[in-house]
Amino acid sequence: MTKVTLIKGDGIGPEISESVVKIIEASGADIEWDIQTAGLDVIEKEGVPLPQRVIDSIKKNKVALKAPITTPIGKGFRSVNVQLRKELDLYANIRPCKNIPTIQTRFDNVDIVVVRENTEDLYAGLEEKIDDNTAHSIKIITRAASLRIARYAFDYAVQYNRKEVCVVTKANICKLSDGLFLECAREIAKEYPQIKFREILVDNCCMQLVQNPSQFDILVLPNLYGDIVSDLTAGLIGGLGVAKSANIGKDCAVFEAVHGSAPDIKGQDKANPMALLLSGVEMLKHIGQNEQAEKIEKALYKTLESGIKTADIGGSAKCSEFTKAIIDNIG
Ligand code: NAI
Repeated sequence: MTKVTLIKGDGIGPEISESVVKIIEASGADIEWDIQTAGLDVIEKEGVPLPQRVIDSIKKNKVALKAPITTPIGKGFRSVNVQLRKELDLYANIRPCKNIPTIQTRFDNVDIVVVRENTEDLYAGLEEKIDDNTAHSIKIITRAASLRIARYAFDYAVQYNRKEVCVVTKANICKLSDGLFLECAREIAKEYPQIKFREILVDNCCMQLVQNPSQFDILVLPNLYGDIVSDLTAGLIGGLGVAKSANIGKDCAVFEAVHGSAPDIKGQDKANPMALLLSGVEMLKHIGQNEQAEKIEKALYKTLESGIKTADIGGSAKCSEFTKAIIDNIG
C-alpha cells in the first residue's frame, strides 16, 4: 500500500479529483489517500491557503496528486502552486503533449515534452511598487537552477530515447538573465553529444509551434515562457482539459493537470477530468503501479473511441457520465 497525498483544490478541483479517485480505485491501485485541503476555502479556517500540514504530508509521503487551486489576480495571497513548488524544491515541471487517440486537432503528429524550470524567474514573487505609476518585478535566473533544469532535460531525452533538446529564451533582449539560462544549456549540451541541441527565441518558437509543431521534440524553458508555451502546446493536442504534468524534485513529486480551477464551469458537472486523470496515471507509473496505470489508459481510450467525451473536446458527456463510462470500461 502506497500512501499518496491528495489535494482536492478548489473551483472544479473537488469534482475532478472525486472522478479521478473513483477511477484509480476501480483500477485496483494499491493506494491509501492522505487527503489534504488547501486554497481559498482553507483561508477562512486556518488563516493561510497552504498550511504547513500539507507540506509535511507531501514530505512524508514523497508523492502527491494535486487538483488546481485558485490564485487571486493582481492582489491577495501568493500562488499556492508556486509556494508548493518552491517549498518542496520541485524544480522540474514536465508537460508532455502528444496527440490523444480520437481527439481531432489541427495536427496529428505532435509529440512535444515541455521541461519548465519551476522555482525562479518572475515567479520568485519579488515585486515592489515604486510609486503610483511604477511597479518593478525582479526576474531571478541562477546558474545552479539553470544547469539543473538543463541536465534534467538532457537526462529525460536519454531515458525516453528522444532526439533533440531545444532551449527557448529571449536572450537577445534579456541578455544577462536569459543569457545565463542559455549559457548553462549550452554547457550541459556538450556532455550529451548523442542528443541534438537547438536554440530558439521564444517568439519565433510560438510561431513555429502553431505552424509546424512536429519539428519540436523536447523544449527546455525558464519558468514564465514554460508556463505560457505549455498552454500553447496543450492547445495543440486538444486543450487544457487533456494536458497532464508532473512537478519533480530531488525528494518529492507532485502530479497535477496543467489547467487551473476553471471557476467559469465550477459545480456544473461539465469539467473534463482527463488532465488530472492522466497526471494520476503518471503518478501510478512513478510509484511502480504500471499495470493499474495501463488499465486506466486503455479504459480511457476505449471510452473516447465510443464517442463519450466532455464538451471541451467535442462531446456532450457530463463529468460524472464520462467517469462512469471509464469505470465501466475498466470492467
Ligand atoms: P483555467 O485553466 O482554470 O481555465 C481556462 C479555460 O479552460 C476556462 O475557460 C476553463 O473553463 C477551461 N478549462 C480549464 N480546465 C478545464 C477542464 N478540466 N475541463 C474543461 N474546461 C476546462 O485558467 P484561468 O481561468 O486562467 O485560471 C483560473 C484560476 O486557476 C486562476 O486563479 C489561476 O491562478 C488558477 N490556476 C491554477 C493552476 C494550478 O493549480 N496548478 C494552474 C493554472 C491556473
